[in-house]
Amino acid sequence: MVGIAVVGAGAWGKNHIRVFSEIPNVHLKYICDSDPSRLTKLQKSYPQSKMVEKVASLLQDPEVKGIVIASSAISHFPLAKESLLSGKDVLVEKPLALNVRDADELVRIAEEKSRILMVGHLLIYHPVVDRLKEMVASEELGRIHYIYTQRVNLGVIRQDENALWSFAPHDLSVILELFNEKPVVVSAHGESYIQKNIEDVVFLSLHFSDGKMANIHLSWLDPHKVRKITIVGAKKMVVFDDMEASEKLKIYDKGVGSLSYDSYGEYLSLRFGDITIPNIKMVEPLRAEAEHFIRCIESREKPKTGGRDGLEVVKILVAAQKSLGQKGFPVDL
Ligand SMILES: NC(=O)c1ccc[n+]([C@@H]2O[C@H](COP(=O)([O-])OP(=O)(O)OC[C@H]3O[C@@H](n4cnc5c(N)ncnc54)[C@H](O)[C@@H]3O)[C@@H](O)[C@H]2O)c1
Repeated sequence: MVGIAVVGAGAWGKNHIRVFSEIPNVHLKYICDSDPSRLTKLQKSYPQSKMVEKVASLLQDPEVKGIVIASSAISHFPLAKESLLSGKDVLVEKPLALNVRDADELVRIAEEKSRILMVGHLLIYHPVVDRLKEMVASEELGRIHYIYTQRVNLGVIRQDENALWSFAPHDLSVILELFNEKPVVVSAHGESYIQKNIEDVVFLSLHFSDGKMANIHLSWLDPHKVRKITIVGAKKMVVFDDMEASEKLKIYDKGVGSLSYDSYGEYLSLRFGDITIPNIKMVEPLRAEAEHFIRCIESREKPKTGGRDGLEVVKILVAAQKSLGQKGFPVDL
């Protein structure tokens, strides 16, 4: 049995608690939250777990091998640092930290102490993202021109982070994974309508050295709930719509044919081919993420979303935040 503790039993932490408690070879030994009312509500459903308000006892318990940090973003760095220094493997929710220095320090400590540091970039554990990776790697889509993503809805309105830091790690992690390349320039526009200096809506653009482009629309002030990623390649185009219950991926055999010439001039041929909906076996991404963390603890393999992946995302967020402060001025990475 692998002893696990979940720190942070709020709206999202509750999902980690459910998922880890369901994995057969896991003993969810502790549930920790600084707010005792959260613990009281969970006590009955998880009688096998000790409810604690402070991390000290679980950090000292040698039976606890892995700590899952699902507390507010501001506490990720201090909690992850303390856990790593106590010799624990760590799965920390996104964002890994709120600045590059802290994210870098976590990566360094984990490497020095040979501990697992994994970041909760959930979409990397989504079966549709696996399929997208295969399609990009096999060049089924042709050369990728650009990606755009939409992650908008009404609420949850946070006070300790803006829509950029709250939502963009999901899209950034997927874009970095698919492009296998880092952006060279970012720019971001956004506005704070509800709370002072906390952007509710952000439009983030990424540019890559070979001309590829990505645009990310983030908002918690929007009438629609949209979770969509569109990829436009030279041969085909795909749309991943995570709000669809089953038909989440559509592949459009559409594109622009090669340049042709005739005696009247030159023209481009547009191709309107079939739309394919592949049958993808669904698994709950959080369950896949949790099982991967356990496998990493047991086998000491490198996580698919390790500390360095979290650091790269934080670097882009920091640059984007700087651009936001300068009304979209491009920031080099
Ligand atoms: N991967 C995803 O899809 C996803 C989705 C939602 C939220 N999240 C992330 O999960 C984290 C939590 O989000 P949430 O919506 O559950 O927030 P929340 O405010 O509902 O819950 C946070 C909980 O952490 C507790 N907490 C804060 N500091 C603590 C500390 N030092 N020790 C112990 N407990 C502490 C709070 O009391 C609260 O109960 C955030 O980092 C968020 O970005 C990830």
